[in-house]
This record gives sequence, structure tokens and C-alpha cells, in this order.
Amino acid sequence: MTTIFRRRHVKATHLFSISLALVFSLAMMHSHADEQASDQQTKSAADRAALARSRLYHPPSLPPEANSVDVDNVYSMQILTLPKLDRMQALGKRLFFDPALSGSGKLSCASCHSPAAAYGPTNALPVQLGGTQLNKMGNRAVPSLRYKDRLQPFIEHYMDDDNPTGGDQGPTGGFGWDGRFSTLHSQAGLPLLAPNEMANANVADVVAKLRRADYAPFFRETFGADALDNDGKAFKWMTLALEYFQRDADEFFPFTSKFDAYMRGQVTLSAPEQRGLKIFEDKEKGNCASCHTSTRNHAGGLPEFTDFGLVVTGAPRNPALDINKQADFYDLGLCGPFREDLAKHREYCGAFRTPSLRNTALRQSFFHNGVFHSLREVLEFYATRDTNPAHWYPRVASGPHRGEIDRYNDLPRDLRKNVNRDAPFSPDKSGKPRLNKADIDDLIAFLETLNDGYTAPQEANAATATDYTKKQ
Ligand code: HEC
Ligand code: HEC
Repeated sequence: MTTIFRRRHVKATHLFSISLALVFSLAMMHSHADEQASDQQTKSAADRAALARSRLYHPPSLPPEANSVDVDNVYSMQILTLPKLDRMQALGKRLFFDPALSGSGKLSCASCHSPAAAYGPTNALPVQLGGTQLNKMGNRAVPSLRYKDRLQPFIEHYMDDDNPTGGDQGPTGGFGWDGRFSTLHSQAGLPLLAPNEMANANVADVVAKLRRADYAPFFRETFGADALDNDGKAFKWMTLALEYFQRDADEFFPFTSKFDAYMRGQVTLSAPEQRGLKIFEDKEKGNCASCHTSTRNHAGGLPEFTDFGLVVTGAPRNPALDINKQADFYDLGLCGPFREDLAKHREYCGAFRTPSLRNTALRQSFFHNGVFHSLREVLEFYATRDTNPAHWYPRVASGPHRGEIDRYNDLPRDLRKNVNRDAPFSPDKSGKPRLNKADIDDLIAFLETLNDGYTAPQEANAATATDYTKKQ
């Protein structure tokens, strides 16, 4: 039941445990339920109180519409109107870069998701500022919007056909750090209405801005003469255009990194890069590829450097975030408070979606709470989280645990058992970290090959590929 995050270990024994589970489940049902009930009463009273309190702070005064805007039948609207793809993309691009669509008049999607940083943030702030006065802190680090083309809606039990060992890979997919949005258009509504992001009062407020925009005629040409007449419909069309813009391959999944050139046989990796790749894939060393997939998928597609699984890494709490000034607020990812459907699944608390590592070397803040500020720091965390916890976590200031190292301090105490202990977190057989300084140098060299915008040297191109742009 709680083995879900050992998902990369359980596979070999999985079928066996399923059949065991089937045999025992009927007999055990009753006592199991009792056990669960008493578990809830004894072990988790404090957690449940913490969870309940965290919900009080659930997106500070988000207008009800932000969660209830029904954009789910937006695809079916197209069947009647048949808008052209290239027009929707062009319109989506205008919308994406338009600061006039925000309450402050200064914030566009691109302010947080800048093309200059692979559609991620360009500064080192852990979270970005928004709101009508641009002084409200976001709750989470801004992700890059690149390489989401194969991201599927969230699923609690992902059966991986690509994986030779098969079996349940656990919670996977969905947009947002906690996987709570199923589609790009359902996600797009939120930043427009969130008071600490683009801060529009409501849907009507956004649509009024659309009607005033200089691209309003283009909007009507794309979606029909009446496209801006009804607030609800106009809002849906807008989110659809934003979605289609984010499906523009050149912008959002260009596959132009040095690593891609290497996979295409156009270039070789340097010695440090090669060593880095080896450590990345070595199950006894980095084991990074077990979550940040580094090989082609079954269809031959280049890897996205994530399997989109949700995992508990136990990142330290970030005291720089406003929301964390509430001592009893916890961002527990998959189990809440920003999504509520899995709040009872305490084994999911603390899980966040594995990010793609493409263009990660362009970032200046890392992890869902932006607590780390360099790749080296991230890798040192992986290497020494459990061998040198005093470096990562503060000591408990008061109460019965006073003076102890507050390991995994961004989780209530009873949920700390959820943290992943696969390599590289677990020490090696002799108790030492699996990555030393030289390994980390090599890993960084390798991660830098994942930045887009690499041009393969001419000679390498000529040696391995036929250039059809030149006359033969
Ligand atoms: C103030 C900064 C800010 C602005 C402005 C902003 N976003 Fe975001 N965006 C974020 C943050 C923070 C997240 C992560 C949210 C979470 O996980 O809860 C995010 C997540 C996303 C995601 C999900 C990405 C993923 O990896 O799952 C998409 C898609 C997205 N934003 C699109 C947009 C669009 C489209 C706009 C404009 C309408 C926009 N954003 C405006 C901060 C911003
Ligand atoms: C068990 C799965 C797992 C393994 C193994 C793993 N990662 Fe991660 N990685 C994650 C998850 C999940 C996050 C996000 C955690 C969070 O925000 O709380 C993450 C975040 C990162 C980030 C920050 C990216 C960003 O956009 O903020 C980097 C860089 C990274 N991992 C690199 C690596 C490297 C290099 C290795 C191997 C040494 C590795 N990871 C091993 C799951 C994993």
C-alpha cells in the first residue's frame, strides 16, 4: 500500500505481490480497514491537523471561477467552427506575449515563461512576483514550458509498456508540479485569474480586455464573428489558442541540443560529457535516468529526460517563500493543498512531478519551491541528503525534538517516511555518497549538453549526414 514510491524497485516482484494481494485481500479486508482507521487516529492526528490547516491557506483568495471555469468541452467547440491551426497558433502567440491581459497591465505569460530561458524564468527568484501591484509572491517555482508534448493527463496508476519490467509505475503525468491540470487549456485559465499571478478579477474582466485588444478582429476571424460575444465561450477560445501556441514544435520541443545532435550521430560528446552520461545512467551511481529518462521511447522519439512520475524527494523547506511564513503550511504536492482529490492518500504527500532536465542548466532556481540555486547544489543534495543531513536541514528549535536535525523539514513529521530512498539518495554499500565531486563535475558537463540551440559543427554534419539543402 505504501510501496508506491518504491516504484522502480517493486517491478520484479510486482505480479507476485498482486496475486498475493488478491488471495489475501478478501480475508484481510476487515482487519485492514480497522488497521487503517487506527492508523488514522494515532499516527496521523498531527498530520491531519496540519493538512486541514494548510487547506485554510489554499490559494490565497483565488476567485471561485479559477477552479470552476469549465474549459473541458473546448475541443468539441472546434467541430462546429473548424478554426485553422496556424491562425490559432499565431493568435495564441499574441495572447502569450500580451501584458495587457493582466490586472497589472505589465505581466504576460512570457514574463514568467520567457523564450530566452526555454519558456522558464530569466531571474534567480525562487518564485515569481505577480498581482495587480506585482508584489505578491507565487507559491511555486516557474517550470519551463518546453518538452511537454508527450505529457499525458494525470493517472494514479501508470502501467508502463515501454518498461521491460512493466508494472504499476505509480502516479504519473498532468500539468503543474502536482499534475493537477489535464490539458494545456485547463492550465491556461489559472494564471489569468490567480491573484498572485495575472490577477484578473474574473472571466468577464479577461474577456473585456480581449475585446479591447488590437488583435480582437483576428480573434473573430479565427473563431467566428461571434467569438467574443459570450464571456464563457470567448474565454474558452482564448485558452485553446494558448494551448495551440504551446504545441508549436519549433518553439516548444525543438530538440536542438548537443545531446540531440549526438543521438543523431552528428557529433561526439567530450570526455567529461561522456563520463557524465554514464554516471547519469549507472544504477549504482547517479541512477538519474530511472526518473529522468535518457533513452529513446518505443516509437523512436528522442528522450524528454523525465518519465513524468510524481516522487517525494524531501527538498528542504524554503523560508524565502511568503506562504511558508505560516509555520504550519505545507505544500504537499500530490496530496494537496493545491489539488484536493487525493488528500486522503497520505502516502502521496510530498510528491512532485519529475521535471524534464532539458534546458535545466539555464535555470537559476531549482525544485518546486525554488530552494536550490545552482546545478551543483542540486547534485550535492542528491549525493548527501542522507549522509550529511545537517548540511541541508536546520535543527528543531523547540518541543520534544529540540536540537535534532529536522530531516525532510518540508513535510509534517509523520509523512517523512514517504521520501524516496533509491540511488542516488541512498548511500553506497560502504555508507558513502554515490557521487563525489568529480562525478558531479561530469554530471554538470553532461546536463549542459541538454540546452537547446546547439549547432553541430559543419564537418561532423558532412561526415555523417547527407545535406539535401546543397546541390549534390
Ligand atoms: C507570475 C508568473 C506566471 C505567469 C504570469 C504565468 N505562469 Fe504559468 N506557471 C507559473 C507557475 C508558478 C507554474 C507552476 C504551477 C504549479 O505547479 O502549481 C506554472 C505552470 C504553467 C504550466 C504547466 C507547466 C508544467 O510543467 O506542467 C503551463 C502550461 C503554464 N504555466 C502556462 C502559462 C500560460 C499560458 C500563461 C499565460 C496565460 C502563464 N503560464 C502565466 C507561473 C506563471
Ligand atoms: C526517484 C526519481 C529521481 C531520481 C533518481 C533523480 N531525480 Fe532529479 N528530480 C526528481 C523529482 C521528482 C524532481 C523535482 C522534485 C521537487 O521539486 O520537489 C527532480 C528535480 C531535479 C532537478 C531540478 C530541475 C528543475 O527544473 O527544478 C535536477 C537538475 C535534477 N532533478 C537532476 C537529477 C540528476 C542529475 C539525477 C541523478 C544524479 C536525478 N535528478 C535523479 C526525480 C528524480
